[in-house]
Amino acid sequence: MDKRITIPIGKIKKETETVYTFTFFYDLKAKPGQFIMLTDLEGGEKPFSIADCTENEFSITVKKIGEFTTRLFKKNVGDLISIRGAYGSSFFISKKKVLLVGGGYGIPPLYFLSKELLKNKADITVVNGARTKDDLLFSDRFLENNLRYILITDDGSENRKGTVVDVVNELLEKESFDMIYSAGPDKMMKALQNRIKDIDYEFLFERYMKCAIGICGQCTLDPIGIRVCVEGPVLGKKLVEQLTEFGKYHRDAAGKRIEY
Ligand SMILES: Cc1cc2nc3c(=O)[nH]c(=O)nc-3n(C[C@H](O)[C@H](O)[C@H](O)COP(=O)(O)OP(=O)(O)OC[C@H]3O[C@@H](n4cnc5c(N)ncnc54)[C@H](O)[C@@H]3O)c2cc1C
Ligand code: FES
Repeated sequence: MDKRITIPIGKIKKETETVYTFTFFYDLKAKPGQFIMLTDLEGGEKPFSIADCTENEFSITVKKIGEFTTRLFKKNVGDLISIRGAYGSSFFISKKKVLLVGGGYGIPPLYFLSKELLKNKADITVVNGARTKDDLLFSDRFLENNLRYILITDDGSENRKGTVVDVVNELLEKESFDMIYSAGPDKMMKALQNRIKDIDYEFLFERYMKCAIGICGQCTLDPIGIRVCVEGPVLGKKLVEQLTEFGKYHRDAAGKRIEY
């Protein structure tokens, strides 16, 4: 659906001090990788990935980072928000041996993906990375499911110390995967891409969005003009390989380059 609907917040779960999951009782019919545009009707409209979606409800997991998300964190169950979507491309649902690599709030859309992959009987390994133990997301949910789950933190405060790419390096020395899916910071996905050149992959991209329906051109990627809101946010290997800005810069609301 891509009409606007206004609905009450159904549930709020505190994941960490700065990350909350908001659940809405509505059949959004979204696919893994897609996103919604959300406004609290008080100013601004922002994109958020679908973290889970069933016939009865869907969720988004939000990091408190600026003005809009700080206001969202003050909302209560029953408060009205307005959404449009779900928008964008979605992950291919493989039946084979797959590796999911995520960091930060890239993990929630990969959780939704893992549920659909499980329905398709894929053989799944998840590598979940965070800066510290307190930043790790969705461990409880992944551990409930029939998949291999590997945690790593930058500072070693939970499980091993290191990065997701360290784990991927070790895995690829011993075994092979048919497909790799990733979502998280560009720099993390770029380091991953450098390691997995000969394997098929799909990455979820985030860029500043305004219209989310392909009109304004705000979210295009250099040099091929791919619109993250329409052709993305999930892009496959062939397109990702053509991107010159990937891992180097993104653009702010004014279109100015922000180097990483
Ligand atoms: C496809 C997609 C999926 C996303 N999924 C999630 C998610 O699941 N959870 C989550 O917490 N965040 C997600 N984001 C980022 C989220 O939209 C921003 O964190 C949010 O808009 C911040 O708004 P703010 O006013 O609180 O912060 P601001 O102070 O306005 O911005 C902080 C940072 O957030 C980003 N941002 C701000 N406005 C936008 C915008 N209109 N479009 C894209 N990025 C923006 C910029 O990097 C900016 O530097 C996603 C973004 C995209 C493009
Ligand atoms: S946000 Fe307007 S074209 Fe993508």
